[in-house]
Amino acid sequence: GSRKFFVGGNFKCNGNKSSLQTLIESIIKSTLPASEIVDIVVSPPSIYLEYVNQLVGQRVQVAAQNCYSETKGAYTGEISAEMIVDIGLKWVILGHSERRNLFKESNQLIAKKTQHALSQGLSVIFCIGELLEQRETNKTEQVLDEQLGFLLNGVVSDWSKVVIAYEPVWAIGTGKTASPQQAQDAHAFIRKWLSEKVSKEVANATRILYGGSVTATNSAELSKQLDVDGFLVGGASLVASDFVTIINTAN
Ligand code: G3H
Repeated sequence: GSRKFFVGGNFKCNGNKSSLQTLIESIIKSTLPASEIVDIVVSPPSIYLEYVNQLVGQRVQVAAQNCYSETKGAYTGEISAEMIVDIGLKWVILGHSERRNLFKESNQLIAKKTQHALSQGLSVIFCIGELLEQRETNKTEQVLDEQLGFLLNGVVSDWSKVVIAYEPVWAIGTGKTASPQQAQDAHAFIRKWLSEKVSKEVANATRILYGGSVTATNSAELSKQLDVDGFLVGGASLVASDFVTIINTAN
């Protein structure tokens, strides 16, 4: 396809200096596709962002897992987009289902964060996805439409800095992966939405990642789907050999 493959490793709240060093060293010494073939981005807990960024070298980039919507101020516990830029990073994940569901982040807040992060020049991995109950009541497309709708009205200044991650919540950390067809259907819906609500050019160029129990065994089949442009990997990104296998499905 015309879109460069993208594989993100979301480490979530896992790892320590020692395990992260081992993990990153084994990823970067592995045989990886050329940088023209696949973007590789790892996302450690914020306390280790700078540490991991010193270990990754040129081939792998680093993303923060979240950031706040304001530049600075009395927001105990938060980090800002400006701080992520300041330590030399280019990426942030926003709207992850764990932020939405465990920490009750609203669509409005996620939109505000996205707008601010983009205004600072960060690229955003914007996550969306339906709950099991929503899929079972045939509300998947309605939910995706609503979540995506918050990107309209001037929130996205530069679509080339947005990657969309489709992560059905029922598939996250459950070992229950979406079937290749279920993933393709949702991705095709998202691409059609981009074409209708933004532009054909943006729809053609925007990477749409699948996330939710991606493994070294199921990634090849998923990656063959027309509208699957990569993965956002949780659990399997903590195992270097599995993560490298998933990255190599780009070939
Ligand atoms: O951001 C990653 C997703 O939440 C997927 O996590 O691969 O452990 O299911 P998982």
